[in-house]
Amino acid sequence: MADVFDVCVIGAGPGGYVAAIRSSQLGLKTAVIERESLGGVCLNVGCIPSKAMISASHFYTRMLHDAPTMGLKVKGEVSVDMKQLQTWKQSVVERMTGGVSQLLKGNGVTVISGEANFKTAKELTVNSKSGTQTVQAKNFIIATGSRPIEIPGFKIDETDILSSTGALALSELPKRLVVIGGGYIGLEIGTFLAKLGTEVEILEAGGALLGGVADSDCVQVVERKLKKMGVKIHLNAKAQSFKKTGKALEVTAQVGSESATIKADKILLTVGRRPNSDQLNLKGIGLGLDERGFIKVNAQRKTNLPNIFAIGDIAGQPMLAHKASHEGVLVAEVIAGQNRAYDAKTVPAVIFVDPEIASAGWLENECRAKGHQELKIGRFPFAANGRAVSVMETDGFVKIIADAKTHIVLGVHIVGPEASNLISEAALAIEMGARLEDMALTIHPHPTLGETMMEAAEAALGHAIHVIQRPLSKAGGNTLRANA
Ligand code: NAI
Repeated sequence: MADVFDVCVIGAGPGGYVAAIRSSQLGLKTAVIERESLGGVCLNVGCIPSKAMISASHFYTRMLHDAPTMGLKVKGEVSVDMKQLQTWKQSVVERMTGGVSQLLKGNGVTVISGEANFKTAKELTVNSKSGTQTVQAKNFIIATGSRPIEIPGFKIDETDILSSTGALALSELPKRLVVIGGGYIGLEIGTFLAKLGTEVEILEAGGALLGGVADSDCVQVVERKLKKMGVKIHLNAKAQSFKKTGKALEVTAQVGSESATIKADKILLTVGRRPNSDQLNLKGIGLGLDERGFIKVNAQRKTNLPNIFAIGDIAGQPMLAHKASHEGVLVAEVIAGQNRAYDAKTVPAVIFVDPEIASAGWLENECRAKGHQELKIGRFPFAANGRAVSVMETDGFVKIIADAKTHIVLGVHIVGPEASNLISEAALAIEMGARLEDMALTIHPHPTLGETMMEAAEAALGHAIHVIQRPLSKAGGNTLRANA
């Protein structure tokens, strides 16, 4: 006799494990099925290990370049031990995945290892090394995520052609790396490898790095820093093929109207991710997909089959862990009978490059496209913030965009130190329908990086204290000069 659960979650990433915990908290008999490791891509081979590598590389460059200025002397050479770095990174991953395991157990969730496949909309089989078992549930939550896209001529083998998984597991630094795709993953990994000493060249098919996903003024700051680090950036550059001679690789690319060849030891392929919707026999049970392979869901994340829900990457953009977790809680509460629907005004996004880029709300062109023709835009540079100066991280700014008439905050774009930790204030402001005055009149502690949020709001209102503002124009575009 098969077990019958109230909720069966498929996939234990940040969408699935959160959905399982919340379901169990609500008194629902819950199982979660995972074919690889608890925590999914994010905890095992994505967000968490990449942040470990990024923070190590940042620490390393600060030891090399900033420590001597601060009067801190290191006896002997500062160098990178990739094997030890991997050991430490793995310890970070294990601590996080171990935590998920304990949370699931502590909440009474049944964890099933193996690969799930739907037989019907009420029953699935789970195949594992120890055999096949059948699981029945009243409700299913599909949270099986996404995987890297490949392009013709570049098959990921994790030896020559790496995905993010292979790049995060390197136990030796490649001398030369070609990154194909100047988006989130390519830039995050390209940056930390460049900082550790790899010569990095980026091929981006579009006309800009992070095209369309980040504020272009923010991207410029990052692009300048990448170039300063020695990273070569090729825009309008499409990778076409590669050949291998001995251990050396040579990538051929179309750069504008010209053909170029670039030598490399490894190639990192990061041209986007696609939903894992071709698995699980979803078509067999008649689950509706859109033309890009995402499962079609409504505001309660319900699919066309009334007892099946989908969350996270497989349920559509943005493919971000925190969106998945938010949906996980939402669906558990919907199944428990609560009156919930997805109505977030913003999914904040962070790109962990140097300096970090973080945003909440709309870009300038999106504000106008949505009918806000007159905008007030305030910018405040980190160079004019005491805390940023004292930590020697002064590149970047906070930019706040608000409707010129109502002063309601529509978008916040940050490039600078700890942008990732600053953006939550902006997300809250947007969710609450805050006005510039709400941000400007909230007392922010001194000396903190957070004061830049208050001062950017003041700048939009025309009266930031620590920059000279003139002339003031009604429709935004305030001219600012740093006074640092
Ligand atoms: P992406 O969509 O961010 O960037 C892919 C880039 O590759 C685009 O700029 C595209 O123009 C370029 N491209 C496509 N075909 C190409 C070709 N043939 N030659 C050269 N360039 C080409 O995709 P990425 O970086 O793989 O990341 C996937 C997703 O993972 C992101 O969309 C994001 O949602 C998520 N992610 C989020 C992170 C975060 O929150 N910090 C970190 C890493 C990933």
